[in-house]
Amino acid sequence: MKILVTGGAGFIGSNFIFYELKQHPEDTILCVDSLTYAGNLSTLEPVMGQENFHFVKMDIRDREGIFQLFEENHPDVVVNFAAESHVDRSIEDPQIFLETNIIGTSVLMDASRAYGVKRYHQVSTDEVYGDLPLDRPDLFFHEDTPLHTSSPYSSSKASADLLVMAYYRTYGLPVTISRCSNNYGPYQFPEKLIPLMIANALEGKPLPVYGKGENIRDWLYVEDHCKAIDLIIRKGKEGEVYNVGGHNEMQNIDIVKLICDALNKPYDLIRHVEDRKGHDQRYAIDPTKIHQELGWLPDTKFADGIKTTIAWYLEHKDWWENIISGEYQKYYEKMYGEGGIH
Ligand code: NAD
Ligand code: TYD
Repeated sequence: MKILVTGGAGFIGSNFIFYELKQHPEDTILCVDSLTYAGNLSTLEPVMGQENFHFVKMDIRDREGIFQLFEENHPDVVVNFAAESHVDRSIEDPQIFLETNIIGTSVLMDASRAYGVKRYHQVSTDEVYGDLPLDRPDLFFHEDTPLHTSSPYSSSKASADLLVMAYYRTYGLPVTISRCSNNYGPYQFPEKLIPLMIANALEGKPLPVYGKGENIRDWLYVEDHCKAIDLIIRKGKEGEVYNVGGHNEMQNIDIVKLICDALNKPYDLIRHVEDRKGHDQRYAIDPTKIHQELGWLPDTKFADGIKTTIAWYLEHKDWWENIISGEYQKYYEKMYGEGGIH
């Protein structure tokens, strides 16, 4: 099977490529990534020389280029990870989110239609459901929960999901969608909560917690997400949405304290800063469908996954130190104040 993976130089896409090449060495992976600030070719170095892995630097909005690529490679399956993925950046500047996340998706689906792709899989997010109140722990996101987005990021992802389902109904494109909760693990860009806190704590820098830090996210180890996508593209039913999550809800402040404890850093590094605009309160996935229909269950408990993740960031300082110089430094100062937080 030939799998076209977009956004494979980013966090989840690269982990997915490693997972696929290990689990299915008979398959060939073609990775397409435009290498935005979030994409790092060095991440893919371990597989670069492999015969069944190929990398092409291309933007998924480049209609001509993408069609040419499909003409030359005829992929069987497309898995679309490529996206602008950071909520805070979408609040600062929404336009590129609409272009990549919506237009890019439509380009990939048009090419998938034209070249008879057997499965188009859209990697979506639980954020398309909006949020749940903090005082209703009995409520969860189900696949039929209405889309009700809060940020430009989640709105662009929900728009793409609507388009994907429209291509299924209108053109019969064989699609699937996965909506996963927050991921953590190796190779996550240090602008997201967990790697940002690890990197800052290691450097003895302040740890910026939005508002009171009571917001809840449902954390899943990245490899468990990759396993779910692998199952969906092989065994999932066309036209279906699958929620992916491991029932691991935690308040942000507890995550930050846990990272301090693990790194032996004092809680007085924590700074409660201005809250994110439109900040979603709580995300919580009901994964019953993917469990019952495809037999998926997460393998990694949070206590183990977070230890592995922290150890990875300790061992791969070069990877993230390289990333947090340059463009990211400017972004950090803009978001968190001149010279950072004091
Ligand atoms: P990421 O930001 O780490 O990686 C995104 C990748 O896409 C980068 O390599 C970037 O270079 C590439 N890219 C961006 N725009 C592109 C374009 N126009 N053309 C080609 N490549 C482009 O993101 P991630 O955290 O790995 O997320 C991957 C996917 O999973 C996204 O679609 C995201 O919405 C979804 N998702 C993420 C999470 C999470 O917790 N991170 C949870 C659920 C779903
Ligand atoms: P993030 O990793 O950006 O993921 P998402 O917003 O997609 O869930 O943020 C996770 C949570 O952590 C979210 O409630 C916002 C909060 N947060 C902070 O408190 N401080 C930070 O510096 C960042 C980046 C996030």
